Amino acid sequence: MRPRPCDGGRSSATTFEKETTVEQNIDQLRASALQELETAATPEAVQEVNTKYLGRKGVMTQVLRAVSQLPADERPAAGRRANEIKQEIAAAVQAAAERLAAGAGPVEGIDVSLPGRKSAPGPLHPLTQITQRICDIFSRMGYEVVEGPEVESDYYNFEALNIPKDHPARDMQDTFYVSEDIVLRTHTSPTQPRVMEKRQPPVRIIAPGKVYRCDSDITHTPMFHQVEGLLVDEGVSFSHLKGTLTAFVHQMFDSETRVRFRPSFFPFTEPSAEVDILCVICRGQGCRVCKQTGWLEILGSGMVHPAVLENVGYDTSRYTGFAFGMGVERITMLKYGVDDIRKYFENDLRFLRQF
Ligand code: FA5
Ligand code: MG
Repeated sequence: MRPRPCDGGRSSATTFEKETTVEQNIDQLRASALQELETAATPEAVQEVNTKYLGRKGVMTQVLRAVSQLPADERPAAGRRANEIKQEIAAAVQAAAERLAAGAGPVEGIDVSLPGRKSAPGPLHPLTQITQRICDIFSRMGYEVVEGPEVESDYYNFEALNIPKDHPARDMQDTFYVSEDIVLRTHTSPTQPRVMEKRQPPVRIIAPGKVYRCDSDITHTPMFHQVEGLLVDEGVSFSHLKGTLTAFVHQMFDSETRVRFRPSFFPFTEPSAEVDILCVICRGQGCRVCKQTGWLEILGSGMVHPAVLENVGYDTSRYTGFAFGMGVERITMLKYGVDDIRKYFENDLRFLRQF
């Protein structure tokens, strides 16, 4: 049986002729289908080509029917080729449709004099920008930037930092445990013993990175970012800590920004202080972000506890140091006046494009 021409007999290239070799015919079909798609100028034209070749009564259906009537030894190769081409035409139909939907004309009709389409450059995420800014400020004060692992041992996250087994910070509510001895670090402080173990004073480092806690509300997210700072040397005192952090706040915000050192407790520092700055959202009037206090905590700090220095083998009669850990989201929030920390992680481009 001779298959009928399926294009109304307009072009021999789209007619399946059994007299020539089947594969030659299939290749011709492919060429003409692709050619017709390239020159299609409207979505309707693309649809027509689609129906003509891939429709239920289309050319490829006829081809496959004809293939099934070939002698058994020719059938597999011809069948395979026919299927490949069917897929290739389907892909080309899709590409042509997308090309037209994107506003481009037929391939042959490209107007080279048209102005190019602008690609939108992506800015750095606001948290990345602020992290870089923090690192820049401390780099200028002579600090070296180092990094530690996010999956951390219980030893570095707690034990080496003088956090005893019964300390509330170890509670399952706060900490994501990977196993009994492995946690997702709850702060960047484990970089302190990690660095000190490997070096002798003077040590002057900052360590930015992600930390994790079971915590979620308008000022807390389960993953957030901290930058740790550590300075150990001879003769380091609390006034160095105060001077350094005040200088930081004044460079990060402006020299008018009010800073408050509030007595606090951390097992790995003694004495300890939390640093607040005046809430920039309400200017100290009290709002939901500062929980009506007028102040927002940006970091924890203190003089490195002698037990921590002893854990890494430092001579505590000779060396003292200070350390601090700041929340990058908090600082970013204050810098830009964004009152909900969760916005930084929703990946809404309308939000992100503003930075
Ligand atoms: C600590 O994590 C101590 N490691 C800081 C420190 C380092 C003290 C060195 C002394 C010496 P704290 O849990 O307060 O402390 O967290 C530090 C900062 O991280 C906070 O001031 C706050 O800015 C930010 N922060 C804490 N929890 C969250 C959270 N769930 N979401 C966003 N930011 C948070
Ligand atoms: Mg705190």
